[in-house]
Amino acid sequence: MSGFPLQRLRRLRRTAPLRRLVSETSLAVDDFIYPLFVTHGKGIKTEIPSMPGNYQLSLDELEREAAEVAELGIPAVLLFGLPASKDPVGSEAFAFDGVVQQAVRVIKRAAPELLVVTDVCLCEYTSHGHCGVVVDGYVHNDQTLDLIARTAWSHAEAGADIVAPSDMMDGRVAAIRSILDENGFETTPIMAYSAKYASGFYGPFREAAESTPQFGDRSAYQMDPSNVREALREIDLDVQEGADIVMVKPALAYLDIIAKARQRLDHPIAAYNVSGEFAMVKAAARNGWIDERRVTLEILTGIKRAGADIIITYHAKEVAKWLK
Ligand code: PBG
Repeated sequence: MSGFPLQRLRRLRRTAPLRRLVSETSLAVDDFIYPLFVTHGKGIKTEIPSMPGNYQLSLDELEREAAEVAELGIPAVLLFGLPASKDPVGSEAFAFDGVVQQAVRVIKRAAPELLVVTDVCLCEYTSHGHCGVVVDGYVHNDQTLDLIARTAWSHAEAGADIVAPSDMMDGRVAAIRSILDENGFETTPIMAYSAKYASGFYGPFREAAESTPQFGDRSAYQMDPSNVREALREIDLDVQEGADIVMVKPALAYLDIIAKARQRLDHPIAAYNVSGEFAMVKAAARNGWIDERRVTLEILTGIKRAGADIIITYHAKEVAKWLK
């Protein structure tokens, strides 16, 4: 006799202390990375309409924001930049005095203990909004690699603690590793957006970062949402090329990918709880249709339970306050 009534799973659910004792997954502020959007100018703090509580920030405002994030105990921020002007090759992405490079220096001064992770991509900086150099209507992989590598180097040079390529070009992790090593940044880790899907969930981000492609979409470089084995190949290649942390993005519709990656490798895994996932929670909460706090904690716990060690999330500041 091994089942009921000998086994009663409700015994361990009876009181809050019992539930706490047997809880299998815990959420901690230590695991969060908070994304920030930086822009030129002064005194700019423009709320992103579809992402309440998130802003485009000029460097002076960024200083305050970074201090607040650090004060909340969040270990890291992820920087995205809005350039002064865009061109076909995204020149400000790899300019040593570009907006992100300046932002890194500002944060390192204002909040030295805060880790600065930089998104390495061209899409915010190119006039066509694609993540690389466009040749005959197609994003040219190998011509893009050099610019992506130079972007990562310029971030490291500014003082970035981790560089995070999100462009999905083949070979970018190796290209970044080699330019960093050649220039004395052999200790700078790479967090690779390894399994990054061509997703409708990036909509609000593209409004925030002004990076919507001006023609076509990103399906010729980002992954098809129906594929799982291909994601594992992407992850394996990034690991072979020297990625220190691999990422799955978006998170919620891709929890199976996170779980499979967890079984397959021992590297830290990051999951990006993207803008559209955030916007849906905010919109439903504002309509009084869901309990925001409960749903947010449930989502982040689910991402962690699937196997993510690190969660990049726009909810980070609020959750840090709730977890205090
Ligand atoms: C840049 C980049 C994107 C996101 C992160 N880095 C947008 C895209 O690929 O179009 C999306 C983040 C989010 O939606 O929160 N390539």
